[in-house]
Amino acid sequence: MSSDDAVQSTNDDAAHCKRFAVSQGYWKDPYLQYFVKSSDRKAPEISRGYFARVSGVKLLLRQFIQLTKSGCQIVNLGAGFDTLYWLLQDEGLSPRNFTEIDFQGITSKKCYYIKSRKQLLEKIAKEDGEISFNSFDLHAANYHIVAADLRDVAQVTRKLHEAGIDPKLPTAFIAECVLVYMETSKTEALLKYFADHFHTAFFINYEQVNMEDRFGEVMLQNLRIRHCDLQGVPACRSLDTQKNRFLQNGWEGADAVTMNTLYGLLPQHEVQRIEKLEFMDEQELLQQLFDHYCLCWAYKDHKKLGLKNISLVPDG
Ligand SMILES: C[S@@+](CC[C@H](N)C(=O)[O-])C[C@H]1O[C@@H](n2cnc3c(N)ncnc32)[C@H](O)[C@@H]1O
Repeated sequence: MSSDDAVQSTNDDAAHCKRFAVSQGYWKDPYLQYFVKSSDRKAPEISRGYFARVSGVKLLLRQFIQLTKSGCQIVNLGAGFDTLYWLLQDEGLSPRNFTEIDFQGITSKKCYYIKSRKQLLEKIAKEDGEISFNSFDLHAANYHIVAADLRDVAQVTRKLHEAGIDPKLPTAFIAECVLVYMETSKTEALLKYFADHFHTAFFINYEQVNMEDRFGEVMLQNLRIRHCDLQGVPACRSLDTQKNRFLQNGWEGADAVTMNTLYGLLPQHEVQRIEKLEFMDEQELLQQLFDHYCLCWAYKDHKKLGLKNISLVPDG
């Protein structure tokens, strides 16, 4: 298996873990079943991790959409089988343009599943019902899927243009467990490109952190066994390395928290609800795991929308 194939196969893991968590009631996602039929049981700490990550990303993104009064764009990098587009639409939070990028091997499967599902199709169609597909790109009313390699900035630029992304509009970029698979120089080029061309922008990045200790080493070894080399790991040394790569590549401000911190900031009634779903005796393992993942966000706010006030405690 080539290393790019191994990286693409991580989407299967993510989709199956989410599917299991949804089937157990951690959060609601009526659309995921159309991309993943069923999933084996996963350990409770995995499901809690996905719950925390999905909740954290949504918390930040909702504030961005509200600050821009939905006059914004969302670009999901390495989106895999993510269903965020449909979930936001159900919440009445559709942006003007929602574009997903991934390798062709993933986008072609996603396009195929969407084409064969009325429940997915009816929510993306334009008023005249028109959706244009080829085997790996899709262009609908305000939803686009494009195949591109994120390490190739020129290709990303071309594909975003084809998807109708306008750099002048406020734009949120999301990357969940994606940048860590790319060499740091490639990620930096991409972040710099976005900062140079999108002047009112917000970036949400979820991935590994504190990777230099023993727990981090074991995580890396396990992935290597599966031919998956985390080439971006130098940026995952600490919360500071995570923030600095934004600050050093043209972004105005950045913040980052470990998942332990994030978990403590989530609405506690929700946390109590999900903690009752499955018995978990490995409390220490959960804390270790949460210490090795983080949510980092960065902004550029030319239009002075108040993007620097977006936080995990929105009313605080
Ligand atoms: C762990 S999966 C995460 C999928 C999704 N973001 C989620 O959280 O469910 C990583 C995704 O990033 C994509 N990816 C990694 N490197 C990429 C690259 N250089 N270009 C495009 N996609 C990439 C993979 O194909 C895969 O779908």
